[in-house]
Formats: sequence, structure tokens, C-alpha cells
Amino acid sequence: MQGNSRRVESQQEGVHQKLDAIVAKYQQTENRRPVHAHTQRAFDEVMAWLGDWQGDVIIDSCCGVGQSTAGLARQFSNARVIGLDKSDLRVAKHPHYQSTAKNYIVMRADVIDFWRLLRRSLDDYPWQIKAHYLCYPNPYPKPSQVQKRWHASAAMPDLMALAPQLEVRSNWLIYLQEFAQAAAAYGVKCEITQVPPDSRAITPFELKYRNSGQTCWRLRRL
Ligand SMILES: C[S@@+](CC[C@H](N)C(=O)[O-])C[C@H]1O[C@@H](n2cnc3c(N)ncnc32)[C@H](O)[C@@H]1O
Repeated sequence: MQGNSRRVESQQEGVHQKLDAIVAKYQQTENRRPVHAHTQRAFDEVMAWLGDWQGDVIIDSCCGVGQSTAGLARQFSNARVIGLDKSDLRVAKHPHYQSTAKNYIVMRADVIDFWRLLRRSLDDYPWQIKAHYLCYPNPYPKPSQVQKRWHASAAMPDLMALAPQLEVRSNWLIYLQEFAQAAAAYGVKCEITQVPPDSRAITPFELKYRNSGQTCWRLRRL
């Protein structure tokens, strides 16, 4: 990817002033949106792929072309890794980034539905979710778009319920500061650090931001 990516620009100079109220609203509301048929099928396919697996599962949400999914599969060879993205176009490009590792799968799915299905079925399977990665979610930097950010969306209760280890990466520090504040409302503590500039970029977006001279940040659940 070329290094001509613009920095995130926003009228927000800090955490959105309505963040706490929005997070509290979704904490108290049950998400009743019907699950889309294609994500239900993807979920069923993933469950069939896991079969009677009894070990760790790692989720790579909004994985785009799945480069990070393949990388996580190599890094955690004793786990099964699931990459999810709603874009057919991006998932279709995965073969270009494919690894020979056999312990992962990249699927087209809407994570809003997939997280809900996963959360509902946590007690039904012998495996456990060890970690959840969310790399470079769309920032939606306009203040009016705040509820499109994951931490201020109706999907946050499911996201918070899913994994003891969570890593979110972004090139917009305010996104992660908001995420940490929203997570604190769930009793989840997080730390934010810089992605080491000398580490290998784990996704195409990370590479693009780096090549454009931008700082990449990561939030980790403590
Ligand atoms: C900025 S891209 C980052 C892709 C990849 N993680 C990377 O760093 O290269 C954001 C990705 O989130 C995906 N996405 C957004 N909303 C989604 C949803 N509800 N379900 C699944 N994927 C979603 C988009 O399709 C897109 O691929």
C-alpha cells in the first residue's frame, strides 16, 4: 500500500461529550436486531469447522483481507483463529495473503450479528475465546457519527462479553481513549500504548498509516 494516507481529522479534540450517556444507554438495552441470514450461515459454518475443538479460539474482527488472521494463526499455532469481515471484496482478496497454516478461517460476516451469536452460545461449546483483535476499525470521526464507533454502538455489550484478552488498534488516539472510557463502564480496564514503530505491520491499513508517517496505537485489556 502507498504512503499517502491522510491523518484522521475531526472536530473532536477529545472524548465525545455524550459518550458516557450513550454507553449507559446501550448497557441497559437489549439488542433486538434480527440476525442476517448470511451471518447465521457463516456462524454455522464456523461452528462446523471448529467441530469438537477443545482449545483456544482467537477472533480477528473486521479483518479486511485477513492478513492479520493469517499472522495470528502462525503466532498462535495451538489455537484456532477466525477472521471476520463484512466486505465480500476484501475477504475475496484473502488468497493473496494466505498462509500455509491450517488453523484459521476467514469468513464474510457482519460482526454485530456474529458477536451476538457467539455470546449466546459461549456455554454450548468446549472451546474458549482466548483473545479478540480489532484492527483499525473505521473511525467515523465526525462527532455526529459517534454511535457508529464500536464502543458507542449497540454491539458494545457483546464485544465486552467476549474475550479476556482484547486488542484494538487505531491511528486515531481519541478512538482508543473513548474505547477505554466506554470499557471502564463495564469494569474493564485498558491501557493504550504506541504500536512499536520497528515491529512488522500486521495489516494493510497499519502498513499504509506507517508509510504515511502516522503513529499507530493499540489498546489492550488489562
Ligand atoms: C479500515 S478497514 C480495516 C481492515 C483491516 N483490519 C486492516 O487493518 O487492514 C475496516 C474494516 O472493517 C470492516 N467492517 C466494518 N463494519 C463491519 C461489520 N459490521 N462487520 C464486519 N466487518 C466490518 C470493513 O469491511 C473493513 O474491512
